[in-house]
Amino acid sequence: ATIKDFQHTLLDWYDQEGRDLPWRHDHEPYHVWVSEIMLQQTQVQTVIPYYERFMDWFPTVADLANAPEARLLKAWEGLGYYSRVRNMQRCAQQLLADYDGQWPQTAAGLEALVGIGPYTAGAIASIAFNQPVPAVDGNAYRVFSRLLKIDDDIAKPQTRQVFEQAITRIMPHDRPGDFNQAIMDLGSSYMTARQPDTAHSPVKRFNQAYLDGQELAYPVKTKK
Ligand code: ADE
Repeated sequence: ATIKDFQHTLLDWYDQEGRDLPWRHDHEPYHVWVSEIMLQQTQVQTVIPYYERFMDWFPTVADLANAPEARLLKAWEGLGYYSRVRNMQRCAQQLLADYDGQWPQTAAGLEALVGIGPYTAGAIASIAFNQPVPAVDGNAYRVFSRLLKIDDDIAKPQTRQVFEQAITRIMPHDRPGDFNQAIMDLGSSYMTARQPDTAHSPVKRFNQAYLDGQELAYPVKTKK
């Protein structure tokens, strides 16, 4: 089982079975960003109508930057964690004021923006700008800890680096955004936390924890 073999198997599956989601219809950084922020604390099925209305109301970064607060909060009503949308507006204003409205194209550049942490920066850099960088969230910890039997404690901040390096090594540098999104789809279908269906997973033969009968022992996480 080579890395190339894994990449092709995963991406072939994604090409056939990947979810058709509204934010996947193009690679606009604005679209990727809004969807990733919404998806941070909210499930895909809930996000879809919110995302569509948000794009209707605020089609561009400038529309978001200039939106009246009441309209902004209305767009977010029901999603919770209002700091997310307040930070998004500050970020939109920052882009216009300090970046001439142009998104930075690297993960490090994106992390300098308000409200954009390592995960969101990785998602935007890979999906919108084709940068070969991982997007490490809970999903990625679960999927890669099982695939590669990484037993570092994901409750420890230093562990992020271990995963970032491992993922960077096995991601295809020509389709990083699709690779990261394929991992998200895998994590919400066959490789779920409690009841994984690995027997039917397209990448089961690469899943070292499964092959050893130890899938549910991953990811390793101590209580904080
Ligand atoms: N969860 C987080 N980001 C996602 C994306 N781009 N597609 C589907 N689910 C996600």
